[in-house]
Amino acid sequence: MARNLTQLELLLELEPVAADNVDRHLAMAKEWHPHDYVPWDRGRDFAALGGTDWDPAQSALSEVAAAAMITNLLTEDNLPSYHREIAENFSQDGAWGTWVGRWTAEENRHGIVMRDYLVVTRGVDPVALEQARMAHMTTGYSAMAVVDAKAGPDARLAADAGLLYSVAYVTFQELATRVSHRNTGRACDDPVADRMLARIAADENLHMIFYRNLCAAALDLAPDQTLEAITTIVTGFQMPGAGMPGWRRNGVLMAKHGIYDLRQHLEEVLLPVLRKWNVFERTDLGPRGERSRERLAAFLDRLRADVVRFEEQRDRALAREARRRAQQPV
Ligand SMILES: [Fe+2]
Ligand SMILES: [Fe+2]
Repeated sequence: MARNLTQLELLLELEPVAADNVDRHLAMAKEWHPHDYVPWDRGRDFAALGGTDWDPAQSALSEVAAAAMITNLLTEDNLPSYHREIAENFSQDGAWGTWVGRWTAEENRHGIVMRDYLVVTRGVDPVALEQARMAHMTTGYSAMAVVDAKAGPDARLAADAGLLYSVAYVTFQELATRVSHRNTGRACDDPVADRMLARIAADENLHMIFYRNLCAAALDLAPDQTLEAITTIVTGFQMPGAGMPGWRRNGVLMAKHGIYDLRQHLEEVLLPVLRKWNVFERTDLGPRGERSRERLAAFLDRLRADVVRFEEQRDRALAREARRRAQQPV
């Protein structure tokens, strides 16, 4: 049976791939500036400077758009948690270190531009937003905690390969945020917000490609070990915002209105990546990898059934709401 590679071996073996992909990323990435995406002339002072404080009537965002904006921004705000995760697993050396720094700097732009937009346009309550940011960042987030809950901390420590779990998680996470930002942009019903979130979504896509390529190389290098990590991540996947203030309510609203729902998770996030990695066509797996693949296939089958069930429930709930609205006196 093939032995597990240690974290150090993985980092060394994959370093040339990381270097190629850093170069590729830098060649593809476009410089952009958050201030270019914010409609500053819609802004005015708040009460502390003699102006007016926020009032719900000032927001032009629908309930769904506001929920999605808050969720996506708080997720971006939690960057220090994600930085810690990849910095711990990727090391600070060579191409790995270059990537960690560059990726973190790019991600920081997303939170900057979204907060500026929301505060200037008065799209959401800035006090509630700030309180939620404080709470969410203070709690932090750990994808590894999810892995540990699923596979047990011993499994990951014994594998000594948090890198594989990290790289699998962020591949799906970047793609998930790309989908969510893109759909949030459309829901805002403001061409300025749409342009801003399309710009962010393009970044997330490039990030996803970096991690996806790294994970593909890890699969070629250590197929069983990597597929085990992928399966654990896919079967225990939680959106990066899980646990933030208002997460359940906002998550339900987003799923109900097609910002990020189960079908999108399956068809736009999980399946395209798994296809790209040839997970179900690979011939290089040993018995351990085969077992992981079976577990993964069974999970995807269950998810397909859940998608149908969720959509039936959603259709019924939306129809009920529409009936209720039609009966309300105008
Ligand atoms: Fe981001
Ligand atoms: Fe990203």
